[in-house]
Amino acid sequence: KFGTSSPFHPALGQRVWDWQETLAVHSEPDYLARGELTVTYLSEAHRACAAQIAQTMREAGCDSVTIDAVGNVVGRYEGEGWKAGSPVSGPDAKTLLTGSHYDTVHNGGKYDGRLGIHVPLACVQQLHAQKKRLPHALEIVAFAEEEGQRYKATFLASSALTGSFDPAWLDQQDAAGITMRAAMQAAGLPGTMTAINALRRDPARYLGFVEVHIEQGPVLNQQQRPLGVVTSINGSVRLLGEVIGLASHAGTTPMPMRADAAAAVAELILHVEQAAAQRHPDTVGTVGKLDVPGGSINVVPGRCRFSLDLRAPTNAQRDALLADVQEGLRSICERRGLRYTLEETMRASAAPSSPEWQARWEAAVAAQGLPVLRLPSGAGHDAMKLHDILPQAMLFVRGENNGISHNPLESSTAEDMDLAVRAFQHLLTQLA
Ligand code: GLV
Ligand code: MN
Ligand code: MN
Ligand code: MN
Repeated sequence: KFGTSSPFHPALGQRVWDWQETLAVHSEPDYLARGELTVTYLSEAHRACAAQIAQTMREAGCDSVTIDAVGNVVGRYEGEGWKAGSPVSGPDAKTLLTGSHYDTVHNGGKYDGRLGIHVPLACVQQLHAQKKRLPHALEIVAFAEEEGQRYKATFLASSALTGSFDPAWLDQQDAAGITMRAAMQAAGLPGTMTAINALRRDPARYLGFVEVHIEQGPVLNQQQRPLGVVTSINGSVRLLGEVIGLASHAGTTPMPMRADAAAAVAELILHVEQAAAQRHPDTVGTVGKLDVPGGSINVVPGRCRFSLDLRAPTNAQRDALLADVQEGLRSICERRGLRYTLEETMRASAAPSSPEWQARWEAAVAAQGLPVLRLPSGAGHDAMKLHDILPQAMLFVRGENNGISHNPLESSTAEDMDLAVRAFQHLLTQLA
C-alpha cells in the first residue's frame, strides 16, 4: 500500500462508505427479496434513491438541491460572493460540473455510478463545515439513467444536459408497455420536451466536467494502485437484432430442413467473439441478451432476439468491428436461408480526456503520495456525453475482487474512497 503525504484520516472515506450503504438499501422488489441491487429508471426504488440523494445533498450543505425533469438530482454549492437567495454565484463565476449515475444494471454493484456522486459530496460537506467557499461553484449531478436497462435509451440523463435528448425516446415502451412519457408523469415529472430542453447546460458557464468512478476492471488491482487517471473512454455502439426462421416440430423436422433462428444467433455470437478478439486488445464485443420468444423445449426456434454491444478505443476501430459483425450476420442468415432485423439503439463516440483536466487529476493523485497510473476506460460513462460540450476527465478508484463490476461482488474500501475524496479536494484547490 502506498502512503499518503498527509496523515491518514479515514473520516471522509468512511462518510462516503456510509452514504453508499444507505443508498444501497433501495432495490426493486423481486431483487430486494433476494438481497440483490437493481435500480432502473423511474422505478419506485429509483425514486427512493433520488429522494435519499437529495436529502444527503441538503445535509451535506448544498445551497440548492433540485430534482430535474428527467429525474437527475442536482446539488449546487455556490462559490464565494454568493448571497443566499440569489440564483447563482457572482455573475462571472463559472461552475465545475461533476457527478455520475444512480441507476444500476440488474443485480449490479453498489459503487458503479454512485461513488461519483458521493465523493464530491464529501468535499462539499467538508467545505460547508469549514465555512469555506471556492472561487467557482460546484454542481453535482446524480444522473438518473446511464445503464440503458428499462428503455432502449442509454445516457438519457446526461443527454438532457447536452441537448441531445431524442424526443422519440418519450414514446419508447418498457417491457410492460409503459412509455417513458407515462413513467415520467407517474413520477411527477412533466414528460415534455419543453421541460427537458430547458436542462441543457450552457458550456460558457462551466469550467468542465469531471467524474469519479469505480474502475470496473482489473488494472488498478493488479498494479496495486488505489487511484488511476483516465486517458480516454472507448467508443461504443449498441444494437438489438432478431433472426427470423420457422418454428417447427422438434421431433419431426429433419436437421437439413430446419430454419433454426437460435442456431444462427449461436453462430453469430461465436463470430462476434472471434472478430473482437482478433483486433486491438481493448476491442470487445458482447451478446448480453438472448431470447427465443415463446420458445418451447419441443419446438425448433422460429425467432431469436439478441443484443450487441461493441466497443473499441477509437470510433474507426469500433465501426470496423461493427461492419465485420453486420457482414457476419448477413452471411450466416443467407447461408441458412433466414431473415433478420438489426436496429442500432445507441452510439457513443470515443472520448479522449481533456489534457488540462487529465493533468489536474494527475497532480491530485501525485499529491496523495501515489504514483500516477494512466489507463483507458472500457466502460461507458456520463462523461462520454458531457464530452460533447465540455472538456472532461475521469478519476478511477480501485475495485476489489479484480475490479469485478456489473456484479454484486463489486466492492471498494473506505481507504480508497478517502484517497478519492482527497484527490478531489486537491483538484478543487488547483482551480482556486
Ligand atoms: C455502462 O455501465 C456501460 O459501460 O455499459
Ligand atoms: Mn454500469
Ligand atoms: Mn457507471
Ligand atoms: Mn456505466
